[in-house]
Amino acid sequence: MKPRIETERLVIRPWRDIDASDALAIYGDEHVTRWLIPQLSWVPDVPAMRDLLHRWQAEDVKPAGHWAVELRDTGRVVGGVALLRLALWDDMEIGWQLARSAWGNGYAAEAGAAVADWSMHNTDLEEVFALVGPTNARAAGTAKRIGMELIGETEQYHGQRLNLYRLRHYDLAYHPDSPTYAGET
Ligand SMILES: CC(C)(COP(=O)(O)OP(=O)(O)OC[C@H]1O[C@@H](n2cnc3c(N)ncnc32)[C@H](O)[C@@H]1OP(=O)(O)O)[C@@H](O)C(=O)NCCC(=O)NCCS
Repeated sequence: MKPRIETERLVIRPWRDIDASDALAIYGDEHVTRWLIPQLSWVPDVPAMRDLLHRWQAEDVKPAGHWAVELRDTGRVVGGVALLRLALWDDMEIGWQLARSAWGNGYAAEAGAAVADWSMHNTDLEEVFALVGPTNARAAGTAKRIGMELIGETEQYHGQRLNLYRLRHYDLAYHPDSPTYAGET
């Protein structure tokens, strides 16, 4: 079961069917999906978005998964966080996606830090990685903000040259105000 994680400004929780329109504003926007590695296909419409949400809801591989990122004060879903096992490797990759209207507020760092914190405190995971395209300054800034260390360039994952960032549990530089964890109700 995926947890529900609360931070100062955000609720990070499993996706629900009702999120399809908000999710489409993220995954149906090519300004967001062009940065995703491997490119998560651009989602064309609400039914396709709902199908994808169903797949994410069915995931049950702790600590991996996709979460919705909701603003605490309005309940609006503004983004997603994913923690995924890298194919053929044991390593875990964390990734963030926000609706463009929500960029520039540090939400990805707050959500990413909270999911990384949860995964390293509630499983035996000791480190997580992020793979960032060389021109993706916002994603690189988010990784640094969380306290991730740039290890260097690699072509080891996804068949592309990418910058590899690593976060070990004692590197967590961004401590979301006492995140609280709970099972989804
Ligand atoms: C990546 C993403 C989640 C980041 O969220 P965001 O709200 O845009 O990020 P922020 O504006 O909080 O910026 C994050 C950091 O990068 C810095 N930054 C932002 N734009 C920057 C730029 N053009 N150059 C350098 N640094 C930049 C910010 O100053 C901030 O650092 P700080 O917290 O130390 O001040 C968001 O841009 C997004 O969804 N992009 C498309 C999908 C994507 O790229 N996902 C990641 C794939 S690896």
